[in-house]
Amino acid sequence: MLRLPHYRIAAGCCRRLSNAAKNGPGGGGAGKNVSGDVLAELEAGYNSLAASDSKSLLKKHLSKDIFNRLKKSSTPSFHSTLLDCIRSGLCNHDSGVGIYAPDAEAYKTFADIFDPIIEDYHKGFRKTDKHPESCFGHGKDFPNLDPENKFIVSTRVRCGRSVQNFPFNPCLTEYDYGELECMIANALGTLSGEYSGAYMPLINMDKSQQQKLIDEHFLFKEGDRFLEAAGASRFWPAGRGIYFNKARNFLVWVNEEDHIRIISMEKGGDLGKVYDRMLGGVEALGKHLHFSRDDRLGFLTFCPTNLGTTIRASVHIKLPNLNKNKDELQKLATKYNLQVRGTSGEHSEAKGGVHDISNKRRMGLTEYEAVKEMYDGIRALIDAECKAASSS
Ligand code: ARG
Repeated sequence: MLRLPHYRIAAGCCRRLSNAAKNGPGGGGAGKNVSGDVLAELEAGYNSLAASDSKSLLKKHLSKDIFNRLKKSSTPSFHSTLLDCIRSGLCNHDSGVGIYAPDAEAYKTFADIFDPIIEDYHKGFRKTDKHPESCFGHGKDFPNLDPENKFIVSTRVRCGRSVQNFPFNPCLTEYDYGELECMIANALGTLSGEYSGAYMPLINMDKSQQQKLIDEHFLFKEGDRFLEAAGASRFWPAGRGIYFNKARNFLVWVNEEDHIRIISMEKGGDLGKVYDRMLGGVEALGKHLHFSRDDRLGFLTFCPTNLGTTIRASVHIKLPNLNKNKDELQKLATKYNLQVRGTSGEHSEAKGGVHDISNKRRMGLTEYEAVKEMYDGIRALIDAECKAASSS
């Protein structure tokens, strides 16, 4: 286990942020002037996206009018520009979404583009809406989805957390990464009972160890081009790492897309058990770390798709009969607000007919409701699979 000094609030820590930044998303387009280079890159990127057949929410919602209104704005504390928000979507026309918030203030400064994308992705969370207070419910509300182990290979629930007083990836310095890692590793070091385990910094792992963990669906991939273009891979692998409990069914990712991802996973379909384990971990870590939460947006994350509850409850599931009719599977997924991904997660293919299916919305509903949405949807898919099997 890595030995790290105990973290104390460093004097420099608060100097990094203005009061506006400390209090969550700040206002206005009152940052520094945007340079000619940035404007030129924005114009070229915008024109190329507009001419493309990209299906991203960025392309759908970034009208010329909104673009012109925002292109010279920047955030008050970090001077993040529109380019910092949308470079990923400009470089990757195959993005589903295409925008990230380099710092929390960006959600306000660039609200004219974030708000419609948030409303579209989270199915109707309007700019006048407020994310509800947390209500987690209990694992016992979600009995085993597949007691006979016929369909579900594994179940996973994760949430994301940001640490107060730190911006998101693109604005973190190398020193910040180390400081954050140190704070988080110290908090992880206090975990006990079923949560006790070890933190492994990425810097101490060789490539083959990393690949093995990626193949086992434990570890995040290196070199995600969407994150890279968003400025989220700077100083890699500094400050990044993974924590495992002994049973390897509770994991924490440090400084990947978000400062913290708290993950509970195991084989089979016992969603309630998996959910309870994640909740216990969030609660234990929350005793040692202050998480950033905004009054309107809920828990703050780098990507607008993860705001609010930040909860993604998923299964790896085999639906061989439904799989024969992809349109039908997609139709059902849309009806139940589910998202279908490939076996190795986002932007991957489904190997051997195994899909990764989860709730899609995370905002404008409570944690309990987000998990319930997935629970009800997966039950409906299993019912449809059984019907398709009996009629084939
Ligand atoms: N930026 C990527 C895209 O638009 C990922 C979006 C959501 N996923 C995420 N991991 N934040 O396709």
